[in-house]
Amino acid sequence: MNEDTLYRKSIEDKESFWKEQAQSIQWFEFPTRILSKDNNNYTQWFSDGKLNMCYLCIDKHIEDGFGEQIAIIYDSPVTNYKQKFTFNEAKEEISKLAGGLASLGLKKGDTAVIYMPMIPQTLFAMLACARIGVIHNVVFGGFAPHELVVRIDDCKPKALITATAGIEITKIIPYLPLVEKAIELAQDKVDNIIVYNRKLIDNQQEMFDGLIDYEELIQKSKPVDCVPVKSTHPLYLLYTSGTTGKPKGITRDTGGYATALQFSMKYIYGIDPGETYWAASDFGWAVGHSFSVYGPLINRNTTIIFEGKPVMTPDAGTFWRIISEYKVAAMFTAPTAIRAIKKEDPNGELVKKYDLSNFKKQFLAGERCDVATLDWFTKHIGVPAIDHWWQTESGWPMLGLMTYDNNYQIKRASAGKPIPGYDIKIFDENGLELDPHHEGFLVIKLPLPPGALLGIWNDYHRFENSYLSQYNGYYFSGDGAIQDEDGYIFITGRVDDVINVAGHRLSTSEMEEIVSSHPDVAECAVVGIDDHLKGQIPFATVVLKNGSTISEENLERDIVKMVREKIGAVACLKNVMVVKRLPKTRSGKILRKLIRTLLDEKDFQVPSTIDDEKIITEIQEKIKVYRS
Ligand code: COA
Ligand code: AMP
Repeated sequence: MNEDTLYRKSIEDKESFWKEQAQSIQWFEFPTRILSKDNNNYTQWFSDGKLNMCYLCIDKHIEDGFGEQIAIIYDSPVTNYKQKFTFNEAKEEISKLAGGLASLGLKKGDTAVIYMPMIPQTLFAMLACARIGVIHNVVFGGFAPHELVVRIDDCKPKALITATAGIEITKIIPYLPLVEKAIELAQDKVDNIIVYNRKLIDNQQEMFDGLIDYEELIQKSKPVDCVPVKSTHPLYLLYTSGTTGKPKGITRDTGGYATALQFSMKYIYGIDPGETYWAASDFGWAVGHSFSVYGPLINRNTTIIFEGKPVMTPDAGTFWRIISEYKVAAMFTAPTAIRAIKKEDPNGELVKKYDLSNFKKQFLAGERCDVATLDWFTKHIGVPAIDHWWQTESGWPMLGLMTYDNNYQIKRASAGKPIPGYDIKIFDENGLELDPHHEGFLVIKLPLPPGALLGIWNDYHRFENSYLSQYNGYYFSGDGAIQDEDGYIFITGRVDDVINVAGHRLSTSEMEEIVSSHPDVAECAVVGIDDHLKGQIPFATVVLKNGSTISEENLERDIVKMVREKIGAVACLKNVMVVKRLPKTRSGKILRKLIRTLLDEKDFQVPSTIDDEKIITEIQEKIKVYRS
């Protein structure tokens, strides 16, 4: 089947298309109901099928005779350590850890939070949960305790699995004090705290009082088998930023997701079982879940766990060293990582040191890829750089190119064409479909295909409000886009309060809540401004309370600290500018888009609804002073 036929069938004959795709994974009970509705009248796929994700990722390959194939490579330039695990070895560790979790009383349907760095034990913990039907929630290690608290209070975990430390280039980040603080602040106490001791910090033993040692738990536990779960059983929750301060617990099913990932590996990434596939993302992001863990392992690829940065660990040639050393066939990263490499090695001198002959394709996503970065990559690396677009919510690509038959055409600056299963339209604000070359809102006709979110954890109302209520019968993506006459789509950016900082999705509303809590702040607006390296960075514009005497420098220092403490260093809020007043509409809404345009020094039209036009010059003058 060629790409067009595949796409058409996926839209016109959904049930038979996805039934056929579901046959490419192994079920304990193959579904008889392909597409149905849940209690909220929302889509569910394969509802009476039964399977287990850990079985698909590990046990099945052993049964098929591939137990001695390398499943996982751990490469940690920050600790100068490398390790490989076969499928047999991975099963040994995962099945015992699953046994350990079961011995602590965890069972199908319970939740567990995983707050860990980029080490194999994180992947083992995810798969151990999947093995016994425990729903995991991985929390990015760069988040501060407050973010952990929000997740603990929302999903009420029976266990929290963590490690003693992470490493940021050379800086050791102790996790236990962060966990301790989170547990202290959380409303719900977590019964079991399991800690993997990395032995990077001395005198940690006293912190272990009342905690469970990961290694000891494994040693004393018996391996357990995979527990069959229903297709709609949640495999995991992954919290993501929305338009309010509270992150949304995106809930992923098992059967639809497994089917969609198998489809992605074959058709989108065009990668054969047995090859090495590397998604250089933290486990805490959607890419880490789908394409560092589940996707490649389902497809029997060797996956790589990389504990380092694209630069400085030890240099900007690290990516090429790994690709060469492990014969990586396809890689996936965020454009910001390539920009960081380009900045350090503009002429690609470090690339020349490595044999990249096995490297076939580079995939990019997470943020817009600028043409200069794409061109630099193509010139110096010499393999196709393929942009594709998706979200935590979808769990797998919605726009991209189907590279399986090598018959694809890259259009620079475009994130590709709709992927099978996604009936994508560009709407104006009234829900009318726009002609090519007109910018509008990217929406997707329901039902979404298998693998996309089941909903928001314990909050159908919020799910409906956030995604389904804008246009009847359509999923609202929150992104703006333009389509051309050949069907290629160009993402123009978020249309809400979400920003993308170095490939990390963050909420400006959440930052505004923190900034507003400063005692001297009357009101504020946080917007994402252009940044040549990170794509976007947050910028706070603040109005002080009457009578406040705080200096701008002290205010900035306080607010930067508060944001780091509440969200984490990844938020990268470094700039706070005091203004006399914020531009608003006559009805009192802050004109954030105008502030962003002024800060980016771009051309703008004065909004017709603005309350007082003079404020524009006021802000422009303040920006000049602030930046001087
Ligand atoms: N634990 C603790 N702190 C972390 C962290 C973690 N897991 N990850 C990042 N941080 C900290 C950094 O140390 C830094 O702290 P600092 O302000 O004290 O220096 C801060 O958060 C900002 O980090 P980051 O935005 O990552 O900037 P950077 O300069 O360290 O690295 C890049 C820049 C581009 C190399 C890096 O962001 C990157 O590789 N991004 C790719 C993102 C990605 O893979 N996204 C997934 C979608 S594909
Ligand atoms: P996340 O949920 O963290 O994966 O972030 C999803 C958001 O990142 C999308 O809604 C987009 O705004 C942005 N994004 C992801 N991939 C791309 C891409 N290829 N081009 C432009 N923006 C992207």
